[in-house]
Amino acid sequence: MNERVRKFANAEAPAFRSYQDIIATDSTPIAPLLALKSNPPQPTDDIPLSQFTSQAFFDLEMERMWPRVWQFVCREEHIPEVGDYWVHDIGDWSIIVIRTEDGIRGYYNSCLHRGTRLKPSGTSGWSAELQCPFHGWSWTLDGTLNEVPCAWEFKHLDYEANRLPQVKVEAWNSFVFINMDEDARPLLDYLEVLPEHFAKRDLTNWYTYVHIRKELACNWKVALEAFMEAYHTPVVHPELTTVVSDWNLQHDIFGDNVSRDLSAMGVTSPTARPKTEQELLDSMFLGDPTTSKAGGRLLVPEGKTARIVVAEAMRKNFAEKFGMDLSNLSDAEIIDSLKYNVFPNVMVNAGLTTAQMTVFWPMGNDPNRCVMENYRLRPFQPEGGRPDPAEPFRLREEDSFALVPGLDPFVASVYDQDTGIMRWQQEGMRGSRKGKATLSSYQESRIRRIHETLAKYMGE
Ligand code: FES
Ligand SMILES: [Fe+2]
Repeated sequence: MNERVRKFANAEAPAFRSYQDIIATDSTPIAPLLALKSNPPQPTDDIPLSQFTSQAFFDLEMERMWPRVWQFVCREEHIPEVGDYWVHDIGDWSIIVIRTEDGIRGYYNSCLHRGTRLKPSGTSGWSAELQCPFHGWSWTLDGTLNEVPCAWEFKHLDYEANRLPQVKVEAWNSFVFINMDEDARPLLDYLEVLPEHFAKRDLTNWYTYVHIRKELACNWKVALEAFMEAYHTPVVHPELTTVVSDWNLQHDIFGDNVSRDLSAMGVTSPTARPKTEQELLDSMFLGDPTTSKAGGRLLVPEGKTARIVVAEAMRKNFAEKFGMDLSNLSDAEIIDSLKYNVFPNVMVNAGLTTAQMTVFWPMGNDPNRCVMENYRLRPFQPEGGRPDPAEPFRLREEDSFALVPGLDPFVASVYDQDTGIMRWQQEGMRGSRKGKATLSSYQESRIRRIHETLAKYMGE
């Protein structure tokens, strides 16, 4: 067994410094939203592994869950001009999300003549109209059937009934979502506490500086759930234990759809040897090299902590670099990872240096494959104008995240460790004699909530 975790095996719970203990010694009052704790008791029954491996279960998710949830598609910055579109694929469905004079619309990506895809799956671009590549039927951007070649042969065609069918499209914080359910409740309702919790994190004026699409040989929930707990951190990422909390993360559940974990930076894991504040500061991982460590080595003065020094440095750097006033943010809101999950497949981080969205997609109709998509966000200097969002950088399963331009090498190595284990988990699940997962009561509680919410869609 890994030596770091051995001494904790089968032990009674040690007195870990909780997230609340840690932020209580910051220089700023605790932000009310970070003071909240919510982790209602849950059942402890096992989760069948067939939920990750079975084609029948996957097909039922496609039938009953995906068409009824809000699905993240892209950022508004990806389709800034009228005619800009982004093709969103899920299983057999494909939706063209396109900006029109009347806002962003979503159309089923299937021709109403004989069914051909109007735009190839997985593409984006600009289009003055939507014309089928087969016989050339075309629709205006508002979905009106406009031109039918040899129209004299289609006297029986009802043009009005052949408008392009739509899905619902709504945006929050510049994140564009679709819902295929005509009766779906509004996105802002579905997002539960999220809009309130992001009130201080307006990401509309941020841009995507790194965009990654990584293929993985596992079910989409295997990948998703690996990022919903830090129980694995001391084993999989031993080097992280010197600068970030793990077993003592705070896990909150706010409803069927939204949960979060709060992870303190600038502290050691309960499994690691304690460090001095200066050692912590020297090894602190801040995520974004443009906003940290500028001006040489920082020192921790008597009576302060590494966390406080870094938060102060960030306030100064953000004011200088981006003209942003961070005086209304607590130290924790500036330096910590504040990671929210939205059912089913979205993870969005409200931390200042960790602001990003990650989404986990099934690949085609294969329960054993998925795509992890990561959008890393940054503010920009207003004078320079909005930079173009980064093009998606594609990684095959065997490719290292180190290939991604602009991605911090330390983050890349952590991602490689996380994703490296996923194939093993999927293979082990498929060959499991037990056939079930046994989750911990607290550290994996948010994973359990995913399965509880999923069960509500799946029915009997
Ligand atoms: S299939 Fe689209 S025009 Fe014929
Ligand atoms: Fe991890």
